[in-house]
Amino acid sequence: MSETKKKVELRSAQWFGTQDKNGFMYRSWMKNQGIPDHEFQGKPIIGICNTWSELTPCNAHFRKLAEHVKKGILEAGGFPVEFPVFSNGESNLRPTAMLTRNLASMDVEESIRGNPMDAVVLLVGCDKTTPALLMGAASVDIPTIVVSGGPMLNGKLDGKSIGSGTAVWQLHEQVKAGEISMHKFLAAEAGHSRSAGTCNTMGTASTMACMAESLGTTLPHNAAIPAVDARRYVLAHMSGMRIVDMVWEDLRLSKILTKEAFENAIRVNAAIGGSTNAVIHLKAIAGRMGVPLELEDWTRIGRGQPTIVDLLPSGRFLMEEFYYAGGLPGVIRRMGEGGMLPHKDALTANGRTLWENNIDAPIYDDEVIRTLDNPLIQDGGICILRGNLAPRGAVLKPSAATPALMQHRGKAVVFENFEHYKERIVDPDLDVDANSVLVMKNCGPKGYPGMAEVGNMGLPPKLLAAGVKDMVRISDARMSGTAYGTVVLHVAPEAMAGGPLGVVKDGDYVELDCAGGKLNLDISDEEMTQRLAARAEQKVEGAKSGYQQLYIDHVLQADEGCDFDFLVGSRGSAVPKHSH
Ligand code: FES
Ligand code: MG
Repeated sequence: MSETKKKVELRSAQWFGTQDKNGFMYRSWMKNQGIPDHEFQGKPIIGICNTWSELTPCNAHFRKLAEHVKKGILEAGGFPVEFPVFSNGESNLRPTAMLTRNLASMDVEESIRGNPMDAVVLLVGCDKTTPALLMGAASVDIPTIVVSGGPMLNGKLDGKSIGSGTAVWQLHEQVKAGEISMHKFLAAEAGHSRSAGTCNTMGTASTMACMAESLGTTLPHNAAIPAVDARRYVLAHMSGMRIVDMVWEDLRLSKILTKEAFENAIRVNAAIGGSTNAVIHLKAIAGRMGVPLELEDWTRIGRGQPTIVDLLPSGRFLMEEFYYAGGLPGVIRRMGEGGMLPHKDALTANGRTLWENNIDAPIYDDEVIRTLDNPLIQDGGICILRGNLAPRGAVLKPSAATPALMQHRGKAVVFENFEHYKERIVDPDLDVDANSVLVMKNCGPKGYPGMAEVGNMGLPPKLLAAGVKDMVRISDARMSGTAYGTVVLHVAPEAMAGGPLGVVKDGDYVELDCAGGKLNLDISDEEMTQRLAARAEQKVEGAKSGYQQLYIDHVLQADEGCDFDFLVGSRGSAVPKHSH
């Protein structure tokens, strides 16, 4: 190690390594924390990027998590410095945490680059914190390791397990259909979220934790160890130890986040029945790294991969069972043995390949991590759709959809925006039946703004009461990774950006063909051209200043990952100027 050690010039020495005015300033102010001189002598300074917040309940245990990372860093001879960044919590933030994902990524990027650190540990958990921190770190590209906060224990209601988010959608529909009482609905609240951690379904948080692990940015098992399991803290400790060696090895994020790593992650997303949000987040992270990733890669690489993880919302179990069954290493092993892991030799944070890490992973429960010949869904990849209704693409998650509806032609019932939907869907006279297609506009990145998770529109109460369980729904919105249904999302361009979704009328016929990857409005090309030409210029109501306006002016469409146009790419870690 000492050989390599000599070759690496510590980045932090640019701050702490000189005996002049600047070195004095950088060290002296740090010393007000009681730091002795020798701490500044040739030790890797490791940033711990903490998204702790009591307003992000999923990340509220992160001060404890950080303490364990620190122990590992100290043990390996590094010096830990913890810093806060914008905590992008999913459950409280309005109008949607997606609006501030890019804001958080800017905070992370500038905090890492502008400060004396040789490497960084990203503490992530709640949905958007994972992509936001990876995006920011990718744009700086110093050695980086991800530590997730882990999922909550299983939710409980009436002695049975209930899953984060998924239970909310189900119970709400049951209340509306008159199947359960309001008392029971409210009683579910306490048992639904009964420990520290992120959503325990295969929602976006769990999906992104699996993505981080399959991309190689974490130690094995990071994705699934429950938040309150002591092994989560051991993993945090080991990650702290490992990041110090990553400095000496100069194992930067760009060596891990390669095109091959993203292809592995796309495949793993299909195997786990992961969230559609991963399509947007992986594109945004890849964009920061300069890795080309297209919607068609999801078809080319992901389709044909069976979903073998039997977790809600697609299947039966929760993250706790997933960890006890063998976690993501078990899935990767099954995939590799079945010839379904495209790049076994992709490098990971511990310096070994993805396959070396997982080749012997034990699997304890074939019900939870199913075998490839007994999958939950035969073809679990995200379905990419194109057509005159979505020239730049749309997505659908087959594992969450009703097979019979994935090939469907129906009459559109159109909602101009989310408010219009809420007002109209409860109208007992609404002209709608089970074959109708619910179409909602203006919920995309610019339109909402922030592309909220409203795409899984609840069904009309009168149809719910009649026993209808699913209908085709189409919008430029996203949906929660915990949601389900035959829901077409991320229609691009969005209505607000002039997309054809904006000209759909009540009664138009819409054709969905998942097998063929098609989404079409059944009107002629001439009619489409006329309607688009006749459409007045779209303008978002309300926003005229502040961050919201910046967002509307610069956000890219869903097929481009909804990053800001000016944030795409890696800007490196160099800071040529001092502050005084
Ligand atoms: Fe935080 Fe689901 S709300 S992970
Ligand atoms: Mg979510």
